[in-house]
Amino acid sequence: MAKTCGVGKRIIKDGKEVYVCDDTRSKLLPVLQKIQAEKGMISDSDMQTVAGEFGIHPVEVYSVATFYAFLSVKEQGRHIIRVSNCVSCVCAGSGQIIKAFEKELNIKVGETTSDKEFTLLETSCIGMCDQAPAVFVDGKLVGSLTPEKVVVLVKELRANPSKLSGLYPVTSEKRSGNVIFSEIAPYSGLKKALELGRSSVLEQVRSSGIRGRGGAGFPTGVKWNLAAAAQSDQKFVVCNADEGEPGTFKDRVLLTEYAQLIFEGMAIAAVAIGADKGILYLRGEYLSFVGDLETELDKMRKNNALGQNIMGKGFNFDIEIRLGSGAYVCGEETALIESLEGNRGEPRNRPPFPVNTGFLGMPTVVNNVETCIAVTHIIAKGVDWFKTFGTEKSYGTKVISVSGDCKKPGVYEVDFGITISDILKLVQAEDTQAVQVGGASGICLFDNEFQRLIGYEDVPTGGAIIVFNKSRNMLDIVGNFLEFFQEESCGQCTPCREGIPVLIEMLEAIKKGERSEKELSKLFSLSETMQCASKCGLGQSSPNAFLSVVNKLI
Ligand SMILES: Cc1cc2nc3c(=O)[nH]c(=O)nc-3n(C[C@H](O)[C@H](O)[C@H](O)COP(=O)(O)O)c2cc1C
Ligand code: SF4
Repeated sequence: MAKTCGVGKRIIKDGKEVYVCDDTRSKLLPVLQKIQAEKGMISDSDMQTVAGEFGIHPVEVYSVATFYAFLSVKEQGRHIIRVSNCVSCVCAGSGQIIKAFEKELNIKVGETTSDKEFTLLETSCIGMCDQAPAVFVDGKLVGSLTPEKVVVLVKELRANPSKLSGLYPVTSEKRSGNVIFSEIAPYSGLKKALELGRSSVLEQVRSSGIRGRGGAGFPTGVKWNLAAAAQSDQKFVVCNADEGEPGTFKDRVLLTEYAQLIFEGMAIAAVAIGADKGILYLRGEYLSFVGDLETELDKMRKNNALGQNIMGKGFNFDIEIRLGSGAYVCGEETALIESLEGNRGEPRNRPPFPVNTGFLGMPTVVNNVETCIAVTHIIAKGVDWFKTFGTEKSYGTKVISVSGDCKKPGVYEVDFGITISDILKLVQAEDTQAVQVGGASGICLFDNEFQRLIGYEDVPTGGAIIVFNKSRNMLDIVGNFLEFFQEESCGQCTPCREGIPVLIEMLEAIKKGERSEKELSKLFSLSETMQCASKCGLGQSSPNAFLSVVNKLI
């Protein structure tokens, strides 16, 4: 008889004790998402029923249901309007948009209309910074809003809830680009990977020097080699499409325009590590992309690029799409795995690392959307070609999302080694005071630093670049970032949970001029503790913007 062991099971197979996956619990989040979509909330009796079906205590269901912003245990309106309070949206006038909704609906943010038709909420960045101010309404993204468009939107929702004509986002205009945006024949990367075989693919990815494009910059070749070396009957490839860093929207464009190359990259990873299952973890805000992504997966299955005996090479691999539910921290790879397993998205202690103990306790490679596409090109076109781009310490290109005070916000593919000042020229920014590189968790560079380079040798970034002109109060910008972290912290560990509110309080004091040298030095020491002692990257990076701005301005 099978003995359960957390998420996996040990069973006796051919006289040997082996692990098999028990993914029952991992269905919990999709079940709760379905109830939320059908009923608009998850009631006590729903939680009891679900708990019974999963054989868990109702408290466990409650703890999951209350973790995610897009699940609610309280009644909400039929239409839920979430206005992004990301810094790019605030700079573009989201305050006016909130006022327009409040006027039109006759409620305040956080309230529901008396006819239970509308709930108005604020939300963290929704990945629409190039079309700010933006809202997420009934599962759809709506950008470039004006107070006038708000009136039309509410009218349309009242008249025909399923149709929001004329207000959908246009795809970001992309400019330049020579790796990610270059053309290759469909499935040529996967075909070559299958011809090369596992060890050559691993070697090519290692020697390309590519580092993960999700922000942390971990060498992809090292990650894949570790997962390949792990002993297990089952392994997983997970593509991290949870893009939630304020100021980042490049993955939105890649998902809508280059889905096939993403899935192909996942299949190449599967060849390399020996996995037969892949999961794309898509942020809940990108719900409306699911239909097209599923169509692309079906097309790949029909073309024998997914499924059984792919391209006649005896390789089996398929991909499933799973949705997040409005939690930025789930972009952190271990929190993402927790979420996939049907738990609160709370980051794990490391080690063990996902390459050994990942989804369902099995070796798992987690890679960013852009990393998957880059690998497809590397295998299709070769390592030497890839190394002609970028610098000796940062090979290749980077897709950046640029928003804020510039004439041409959008998604750009640039060579590593580009300076901030060249990026500002590209996006036609004028009168620039500062540039936030890496989103809320990144650093703020002022005009004496615009010659610095994007690259691992100088300023690494997951891709968010937010431009601020001289009219912006940088202390307010930092306040916005800190409030974002406070909202999104999972609260597991003390330096992050308790440190962020202290920074917010002190920032207010600094703004009022109430600060002493002694207090400032205490703040720097608190920030250092948060950077060193927080459990995950969220807490560790939360003081970054604060420090770079306060150090410059105070
Ligand atoms: C709070 C937090 C949020 C993150 N969000 C994302 C994300 O949305 N997408 C992503 O690819 N990586 C994100 N990461 C980094 C992942 O933990 C992980 O390093 C990455 O997915 C690995 O892929 P890569 O090696 O291809 O970059 C986040 C990290 C932290 C700490
Ligand atoms: S650092 Fe913050 S988000 Fe990360 S585990 Fe600790 S409390 Fe949670």
